[in-house]
Amino acid sequence: MDLMQRPRRLRGNDVLRKMVRELRLDKSSLVYPMFVREGSNIREEIPSMPGQYRYSVDRMEEKLSELLDAGVQSVMLFGIPDEKDELGSGAYAQDGIAQKALRKAKQICPKMYLIGDVCMCEYTSHGHCGVLCGHEVDNDRTLELLAKTALSQAQAGADMVAPSDMMDGRVAFIRRALDAEGYANIPIMSYAVKFASSFYGPFRDAAGSAPSFGNRKSYQMDYHNRREALKEALSDVKEGADIIMVKPALAYGDLIREITDQINVPVAAYSVSGEYAMVKAAARVGFLDEEAVMCEMAAGAYRAGCGVYISYFARELAECMDQGMIG
Ligand code: PBG
Repeated sequence: MDLMQRPRRLRGNDVLRKMVRELRLDKSSLVYPMFVREGSNIREEIPSMPGQYRYSVDRMEEKLSELLDAGVQSVMLFGIPDEKDELGSGAYAQDGIAQKALRKAKQICPKMYLIGDVCMCEYTSHGHCGVLCGHEVDNDRTLELLAKTALSQAQAGADMVAPSDMMDGRVAFIRRALDAEGYANIPIMSYAVKFASSFYGPFRDAAGSAPSFGNRKSYQMDYHNRREALKEALSDVKEGADIIMVKPALAYGDLIREITDQINVPVAAYSVSGEYAMVKAAARVGFLDEEAVMCEMAAGAYRAGCGVYISYFARELAECMDQGMIG
């Protein structure tokens, strides 16, 4: 057979396949999202996210050390308060759960890079991501509280803040508040391209943050929109965002690519709770190979262009990178 092109020649053995591999991954790009709750001596499994736990502050150390041992050096912390109110005051309280967790983590694991998720939905009695005016989330009043939240997290030891609320103008507002108080060097990772997604279901169980009425479609994006994603990303870069996040990851590879091509700040992809839960559930009944699918999903996001990958599988991915299964 006279075939000049035989792409299979480069797939003949593992050494060669790895030699010509286009994607090289590194554990330093992984971020692990972690849930911290009030109480003591608690490590409770999240029913819809098998293998993921809510930790009380005094039990965080075991998880943080396990991550560091595996080479995962960044966590994103989500606080789960005991009490909620209309104004989500636990989000910006000096002794709020996120602030306590940040202080403790800084003290017990100074090597760990700490990212604070900035949002109100875990702290409001109605479960929306901002202050209500009637049944609407009031954008401009919410900005003040988000800025207070970000500042209190920086004061508690956050190395970076990550606003996930999707209010307009919050990046600039938070930037100014941080700068005014001497935190000009704390970066902002903006959940700029965050869709109103059903993939967040298990997270809302984990954090008890489902909205008590309505949904989040008046602030999170409509998943039919591509051009609007770019608009959100560009405007957050203008407002001072240091890293732009696309979320979820799995069904949004086109946007990870588009945004990576169009903007010049690092792009993060967040493989969310529902992505994790799907893999776990399918693996549990023997329909999928958990590890293989986890690696393939991560490679897909990196191939789409992200430089940072936020995943509940961060530790397992780091181990697979060590073993050469991925990257
Ligand atoms: C808070 C927030 C959510 C997630 C991250 N930050 C939930 C939501 O917007 O409803 C989802 C993360 C996940 O599903 O893993 N606003």
